[in-house]
Amino acid sequence: MSQIKFKKYQPLVIRLWHWADAFLILGLLLTVLLRKTLLSWRTNSKLIEGMMQENGTPVTFEFARKVAVTIRDPLWDWHIYFGYALGAFFLLRLVAAFLNRGKDQERSLRNLFKTRNLHVFGAYLLYRVFYVMTALMVISGLILVFKEQLGWEKSTFSSIKEVHELSMWFFVGFVALHIGGVVVTELRDEPGLVSDMINGGEKK
Ligand code: HEM
Ligand code: HEM
Repeated sequence: MSQIKFKKYQPLVIRLWHWADAFLILGLLLTVLLRKTLLSWRTNSKLIEGMMQENGTPVTFEFARKVAVTIRDPLWDWHIYFGYALGAFFLLRLVAAFLNRGKDQERSLRNLFKTRNLHVFGAYLLYRVFYVMTALMVISGLILVFKEQLGWEKSTFSSIKEVHELSMWFFVGFVALHIGGVVVTELRDEPGLVSDMINGGEKK
């Protein structure tokens, strides 16, 4: 096994980018979790309908649904704000990658594959997939935000929404695998890996 490690100096911009991006991904996942649980219109419209009935002032299911969706809407505004920010951070990461192109040949996918360092290779491959999936989420998300202005067929939007919704599971898996992988690597053979992502680590 080659000696290439995960540990390397992490410049301030990358550290700031990393924690901001982590916050945004977790924030986006949290908005989805709340939409499907505490702020679910299905659950809340039934609750509103039932309580109004008990109160002797029954309302139609349609009205109860409208109230539940109105309560949920501000949460979804946050999904979209976080989404715009994710798009901006994705562009910043592309600029950083462009400015640093060719500077870390040791950790290029080709070199990691050649040196049979499959753990680091796997992690770096996963980061590439992460960036491709982020691009997919930003593009599909923006199409959904501007669907009225675009005026495409309804069925096209339904397919885009399905892709957007299903792709969420990649991020759930990524977060679990990434945090698990980082913690195991930190404990097993690279102590200080996490603090490097906070204080930068040793400049070589
Ligand atoms: C939960 C959301 C998170 C996301 C979306 C995320 C995303 C990423 C990405 C994309 C990279 C690669 C950066 C590059 O292009 O070089 C990375 C690296 C790293 N992350 Fe995270 N991260 C998250 C949470 C965390 C947490 C909680 C920790 C610490 C426990 C952590 C520790 C690290 C470390 C140490 C690296 C650099 C080492 C390596 O290359 O594997 N991350 N992260
Ligand atoms: C990792 C990033 C993201 C994840 C995990 C995610 C997840 C989801 C999920 C699961 C849904 C379906 C919710 C439902 O109908 O129950 C959704 C819908 C949506 N997302 Fe995202 N999303 C992400 C990024 C974005 C971005 C970048 C934007 C745009 C700026 C965006 C805008 C939207 C819009 C407009 C909808 C449609 C809401 C509706 O039809 O009511 N999302 N997202």
